[in-house]
Amino acid sequence: MAKPKIIIDCDPGHDDLVAILFAAKHLDLLGVTTVHGNNTLANTTRNGLIALELGKIDVPLAMGAVEPLVQPSVGIASGHGKSGLDGHEFADPRLKPISQHAVDFIIETARQHQGELIIAMIGPQTNLALAIKREPRMRQWIKEITIMGGSTTTGNFSPAAEFNIAADIEAASVVFESGIPLRMVGYNITRQTGFDSADIARLRQSGSSACQAIADLMQFYLTRQGEMYGLTLAPMHDVCAIIPYVYPDLIQFLHTSIRVELTGTYTRGMTVCDVRHPRGSAETSLRNRTEPNGFVAVSARSRDLIDRVIETLEHY
Ligand code: RIB
Ligand code: CA
Repeated sequence: MAKPKIIIDCDPGHDDLVAILFAAKHLDLLGVTTVHGNNTLANTTRNGLIALELGKIDVPLAMGAVEPLVQPSVGIASGHGKSGLDGHEFADPRLKPISQHAVDFIIETARQHQGELIIAMIGPQTNLALAIKREPRMRQWIKEITIMGGSTTTGNFSPAAEFNIAADIEAASVVFESGIPLRMVGYNITRQTGFDSADIARLRQSGSSACQAIADLMQFYLTRQGEMYGLTLAPMHDVCAIIPYVYPDLIQFLHTSIRVELTGTYTRGMTVCDVRHPRGSAETSLRNRTEPNGFVAVSARSRDLIDRVIETLEHY
């Protein structure tokens, strides 16, 4: 059976790098697009090229939006360090981005693979929002949007908002209200799904130079996440958006309504997920419900998921 076709839109980022390496081994990765977010667009692009070189992955990388649609930039995420990929010294990548803008690359790829293309959104959603506004037929062309973002419970950027949504809230609203099939894995799942020190030691034992570099990166990320959030795991947020297309039984989803809060004083950027009923918000007995617009992750076999990711990385 043909591998699912996917584009990854990202802001590398330690966990973005792992998502790219994992997807390249299991899916038909057609390209990578970069966006502002964890760091500046220049740095997320450099880091995306580093990821492709590290994994010897021969796919195009297109640069995208440098800032959010409407709101001011929220600033870089210190959890990834000054460069956005601290922990291992990389030479400047030899690879260069293609000249086509990420928005045009996404549209063109969706046009060429109508009905087949999955778009993985693992950073702020500015590029996809612009693509939907520029080409409304994207609503027919895209098979599914898989999102690392939002949460059914707490955020990380604020008590209510997760970073990828908070970094461009209007863009997220455009994407969630687009009518395109959505699959969202939020911080409620990803905060409990990550590498511990034993996983990092296992990567080091693999012996390859690529795995040594990955282990260095993950050690930095683990230490920083511990300092910032008291976590004992290096959360692998982004690969969770890829997993459903490779190991469908590792994350459990609920089909329900997911709305992006645009105006709340304390809740702006929150993904309001209706998880009141085990069968989702389609239950007509629920008050104040809104129409279901996607699948939201409500549980995961996190340890099994991480084992599958480590096994994949050991092949680099
Ligand atoms: O909140 C987690 C998300 O923010 C991940 O995509 C991580 O890479 C950062 O972008
Ligand atoms: Ca990311």
